[in-house]
Amino acid sequence: HAKGGSVINPRDLLGNDIALLTDNIRRLLGSGHPVLNTISNYYFGQQGKHVRPLIVLLMSQATSLAKAAPMSASAAPSIPAPLSAARVDAPLSAHPTAVAFGAAPAAASASAPADGAAPSPADPVILPTQRRLAEITEMIHTASLLHDDVIDVSMTRRGSPSANAEFGNKMAILAGDFLLARASVALARLRNAEVVELLATVISNLVEGEFMQLRNSALEGSRYEWKEPNWLPSSIAGDVESQERFQYYMEKTYMKTASLIALSCRGAAVLGGSTPEISNMAYLYGRNVGLAFQLVDDMLDFVVTADEFGKPVNADLKLGLATAPVLYAAQTFPELYPLMERKFCHDGDVEKALELVFKSDGIARTRALAEAYCTDAISAISTLPPSLAQTALIQLTQAILTRRK
Ligand code: FPP
Ligand code: MG
Ligand code: MG
Repeated sequence: HAKGGSVINPRDLLGNDIALLTDNIRRLLGSGHPVLNTISNYYFGQQGKHVRPLIVLLMSQATSLAKAAPMSASAAPSIPAPLSAARVDAPLSAHPTAVAFGAAPAAASASAPADGAAPSPADPVILPTQRRLAEITEMIHTASLLHDDVIDVSMTRRGSPSANAEFGNKMAILAGDFLLARASVALARLRNAEVVELLATVISNLVEGEFMQLRNSALEGSRYEWKEPNWLPSSIAGDVESQERFQYYMEKTYMKTASLIALSCRGAAVLGGSTPEISNMAYLYGRNVGLAFQLVDDMLDFVVTADEFGKPVNADLKLGLATAPVLYAAQTFPELYPLMERKFCHDGDVEKALELVFKSDGIARTRALAEAYCTDAISAISTLPPSLAQTALIQLTQAILTRRK
């Protein structure tokens, strides 16, 4: 397929596994109440990008091959030291359940080789549990969007009225809760305590990330307790104020966006019975992709039109949020700090901030930072055995930098 550097379409690679995603999710969402059914299915009826389940499925394939062709000790990559963010992310124990569980049910998968033969490099495996994890990941993401559009008072999503615009806040919130609950039931049915813990951590991280965004507590006097001391990207020189704000912004970004991708990638590897080293590579890939993805999202908020984006633009400034382009711009134009402090609430603040961001190198530096995380993501999986899935993951990472929506 991918000879001569051609672009792999992950949807071709994954075939039915991605085509059936929405159908399977709908099946997990049946309730007795027709209106609850309508609202909780509402965002699945639109053309979402399905980035997270795509990544989970591709990672499942890419890591299944690592297991089939174990790396020799000399070829083994050096793994960065465990992150201290592991305080929130790490499983309580090593990976015993995963190995025991992941080893057995391969034969049940439609794409698994017959007669229990070890998969060959041409024959990547997606286990039924990994496919279910992809669905759970999309459900958790969609639950967070239902709640997010209420919090952000956002009236459009993917070019259509948001669920809250269509059905009101109360029902949108309850539909989000319902999605989370059904995702939790499906998660429990995986019968893998480690993966339950990973995805439960995602849910708490999403809430913490959203809370960090709502209340800049680190910057409001009370101490915020850093999960990890080294969030600060190396490209941020700047003064202490700038560094503190960047540290907070990056941690928030991990919590609200990267955690879901990182820990579901780890979960896919765990379900496949990967070694802790391979699971950690999967985690690092997802984490770096997630950080890059949100940085680009924050950049696009400044540079694309609402028609392209399918949701309102300049939304962050209007919500009082200073994202990477503004934080970089403030290093050149410190007059942005008082505007940030009052959350751009005075007349003309949003326009002034826009003007200074475009006068500065804030957009270009945000893009460069996203690119650096993409490079780290690609290097995290570079030592997996070569496969179409690995190439697709690399191409998907590169595409983050050129996406317009
Ligand atoms: C989108 O961000 C929102 C998120 C990535 C996370 C939102 C999390 C919550 C609302 C916490 C509750 C979580 C659950 C699981 C119910 P954005 O507003 O920057 O993106 P947008 O432009 O797409 O709206
Ligand atoms: Mg939003
Ligand atoms: Mg939001």
